[in-house]
Amino acid sequence: MSDLKKIKNNFIEKINEIVDLESLNKLKSELFGKNGLIPNEFKKIGTISPDKKKQFASDLNSIKDELQNSITGKIQKIETDIINNKLKNEKLDVTLPERSFLQGKIHPVSQAIDEISSIFSEIGFSVEEGPDVENENYNFTALNTPDNHPARDMHDTFYLDKNKQYLLRTHTSPVQIRTMLKSNPPFKIIAPGRTYRSDSDQTHSPMFHQVEGLHIDKNINMGHLKGCLNYFIKEFFEVKKIKMRFRPSHFPFTEPSAEVDIGYEIKDGKIIIGEGDKWLEILGCGMVHPNVLKNVKINPNNFQGYAFGIGIDRLAMLKYGINDLRAFFESDYRWLNHYGFDPLDVPSSYRGLSR
Ligand code: PHE
Repeated sequence: MSDLKKIKNNFIEKINEIVDLESLNKLKSELFGKNGLIPNEFKKIGTISPDKKKQFASDLNSIKDELQNSITGKIQKIETDIINNKLKNEKLDVTLPERSFLQGKIHPVSQAIDEISSIFSEIGFSVEEGPDVENENYNFTALNTPDNHPARDMHDTFYLDKNKQYLLRTHTSPVQIRTMLKSNPPFKIIAPGRTYRSDSDQTHSPMFHQVEGLHIDKNINMGHLKGCLNYFIKEFFEVKKIKMRFRPSHFPFTEPSAEVDIGYEIKDGKIIIGEGDKWLEILGCGMVHPNVLKNVKINPNNFQGYAFGIGIDRLAMLKYGINDLRAFFESDYRWLNHYGFDPLDVPSSYRGLSR
């Protein structure tokens, strides 16, 4: 083997051993720099005898190529190693929790719905849902509220089409119809959700929340209705005694119908529920009208029961001490942070509803 080839092999070995770019660059200039080995060898060509010149030049060229290739290969390898190392060390575990964690809050209306659902679940009610966009039949006609019935005007309905076939439900009562059409009695359900009427002031919002209740069985009477509501209100406000009155009222879908007020008083600027001589209306209720049962193919001689519709927003305002209904729907982060609830506190009567 010629000396040059030996030298080359030595260099290739060195290149293979090198692990950092700096040493590699040093070696590169030793080989290819101004006074490097390869340029110096090229300079020798002029001094070589003509018969060996060709062979020498060709050998030198292939040695040069070989060394260059091996250096470029090594550079690439070192660079890939650097990147791979970086990737390995900077790997992101997206399942790790954030270091500073901004925890969201449960909106007071959602909290009230959870608490209400929890109370009624514990006495055997299951939870149903219905759509916000309802047809006029389920919202009115099937609920014994025919065309031209004055109660239709009372509701300030948002209609969605010229023919008044579709609307934003004005109450959760259409879920009564949907539930009773879906299966056979007995029924014992609540249905919380959004409802809409076109009025708006400090105590009315065009979108508000109700929870419907429906209990249909063979021997259900007004006593059950009273007992159930009395129990619910005490549980919800977490008080032992409650002042409550049934006022005769009218709804087309119940007979007899009543509105329920609860007693309260204001002490040191705070509302105290269940005492005092002021009254606050919180719900409408009654015994389901025989026509409603007939509309869903239930024989009113075999089955009857009660229904109620509770205004959730107002209950939430009372319980959590919020005095302007509109704040509920302004999505003010600071307000929510103050009045919102911890997402991990699932309400139950057993653990305490809102504590
Ligand atoms: N749907 C009635 C309302 O929105 C409330 C209600 C429900 C009354 C069920 C009686 C029975 O005002």
